[in-house]
Amino acid sequence: MNHFLDIHTTSADDLHQIIASAKATKQARLGQPKGALDAELPLKDKMVALIFEKPSTRTRVSFDVGVRQMGGQTMVLSGADMQLGHGETIADTARVLSRYVDMIMIRTFEEQTLLEMAEYATVPVINGLTNRTHPCQIMADILTFEEHNGPIKGKKVVWCGDGNNVCASFIHAAGQFGFDFTFAGPEPLDPEMGFIEEARAKGSKIEIVRDAEEAVKGADLVVTDTWVSMHDPQSARERRHNQLRPYRVDRKLMSHANPDALFMHCLPAHRGDEVTNNVMDGPQSVIFDEAENRLHAQKAIMRWCVGV
Ligand code: CP
Ligand code: NVA
Repeated sequence: MNHFLDIHTTSADDLHQIIASAKATKQARLGQPKGALDAELPLKDKMVALIFEKPSTRTRVSFDVGVRQMGGQTMVLSGADMQLGHGETIADTARVLSRYVDMIMIRTFEEQTLLEMAEYATVPVINGLTNRTHPCQIMADILTFEEHNGPIKGKKVVWCGDGNNVCASFIHAAGQFGFDFTFAGPEPLDPEMGFIEEARAKGSKIEIVRDAEEAVKGADLVVTDTWVSMHDPQSARERRHNQLRPYRVDRKLMSHANPDALFMHCLPAHRGDEVTNNVMDGPQSVIFDEAENRLHAQKAIMRWCVGV
């Protein structure tokens, strides 16, 4: 069994295998009703717990549908309703859940919660987002890029905005999938330097550029995300908006990227803040393919977790 905790802690071979498997099983399902079972049922007779300590639309629904298509059953648990939210330790929760279910997906605040869950669970644990990373999202994004524009290896990805959890997983992916990554954002919101150094050590070119138009030149993919993440205090909203406004993705900024560049956003978006409507709904935007691919990528991740 495997835990899927982060992109930089999963081997590059396994990551490539997961993407290939996602492409194949997505293809095999073309034209099937959404509720139809897959031809192969790797989660038959398996129970999967989906724990959410933060809100979610895509992660919740795509994991739920994916487990069912693979023949398993799910339960969606709100962290606040569990004893976990009332003082029971993560270790005890992990050991108890492992007696009932065959896999645990958790969306939480502190990364330590995820790591402790994985340490004490005797079943696979999947990272459904922490304050620090969002690996499932980026696996879906790689799948989406490759479906539209071929191998991501050697391409230039430009992140505009906050150096947040989604940005961190992109930097991890740069190292593992061999693409270049430019961060365009204000210094106080830079991504973690340790992540950048790790990706550089794997041979990827990782740059920090303060001018958004300069950063986007030659981009094959432009990505942004909310300026205020779920774990950020609302009191920081105004300051962040002021810091990040120069990095809003609009048509003018997109015109500096390569003509066939794609635009991605993990969603939910704040239209008019980090990105304009005409980019969100424009011809380079693949935001809804990204959302769909959460389903296909995560099914491949779950299969890898149970070793099927
Ligand atoms: N992109 C993403 O993880 O969306 P949700 O917060 O809706 O799950
Ligand atoms: N950075 C965002 C991603 C939401 C899917 C957050 O953590 O709120």
